[in-house]
This record gives sequence, structure tokens and C-alpha cells, in this order.
Amino acid sequence: MRIVIGADHAGFDLKQIIAAYLRHHGHELIDKGTDSDQPVDYPDFARAVAEGVSGGKFDRGILVCGTGVGMAIAANKVAGIRSSAIVDTDTAKLTREHNDLNVLTLGARVLPESRAREIVKTFLQTPFAGGRHGDRVKKIHAIESH
Ligand code: RB5
Repeated sequence: MRIVIGADHAGFDLKQIIAAYLRHHGHELIDKGTDSDQPVDYPDFARAVAEGVSGGKFDRGILVCGTGVGMAIAANKVAGIRSSAIVDTDTAKLTREHNDLNVLTLGARVLPESRAREIVKTFLQTPFAGGRHGDRVKKIHAIESH
């Protein structure tokens, strides 16, 4: 799976941990930054990651900020993106099955590292269920052209 990851200063440490975990498990990973804990603006990184997924260069995106919320709001502005801040593995599984989530966002200030890792694992391993859920996802993207 081709994965693109990004973070702001609040998510930098957790991004580094997740990136190392993904590389260790053999994923093809591109890191769009940030590269330190110096303050930056999360929409810049959300845009870079979301456009990479939307353009088809990557299969999935992962973004980390303080809460995960700002990153999700920004990522969802890019056509073709289905993004949400996820805080538990049950939701990670269901949102892959039902919503075909393609950009996962995580909050480094609200999630323990071990749970963030489990959420990432579930996000990457759970397939989309398709069927009626596919029809609903199409309706989401029909909103983009209005
Ligand atoms: C940065 O202080 C913080 O606002 C950001 O990481 C994020 O939580 C925004 O949603």
C-alpha cells in the first residue's frame, strides 16, 4: 500500500513513531513533514497529504495534529477525500467498512501512542464493504459538484 503521512508541530513526535512503525512493516511511505516541533500551520500539511490521495498517487493518507480535528476539516476540502479524526479501533474498522475512509487523522494530544498504533493498523487492514455503502459514498461526492 502506498501511504502518505503528514503532521504539524503538535503531531510531529507521533508522526515519527507511526512512520517508523509503517516502514518496519514494509509499507511504501512518503513523509510530507513537518520535520520538527517548530510551529507550523496544519492546513498546509493536510492539503499536501489530501492532494496526494485525491490525485491517485497514494492509496491512503495519515495526518497527525493536536486533536486530529483541524487536519480532518482541511483534508475534507479536497475533492475525493473522506477524512475523520478517529479515537478508537471500533470506529476505525466501521469507518473503513462503511465510509471507505481514505485519510485518517489522529490527535497526538488526546491519544495514547499504543492506541494510535492500533487505529493505524485497523485503518490499513480493514477493507471497504462496498454495496449499499458504495452508493452512499457516491452520494457524498455528488455533493462536491453542487
Ligand atoms: C496546534 O496548536 C493545534 O491547534 C493543532 O495541532 C490542531 O489540534 C488543530 O486542530
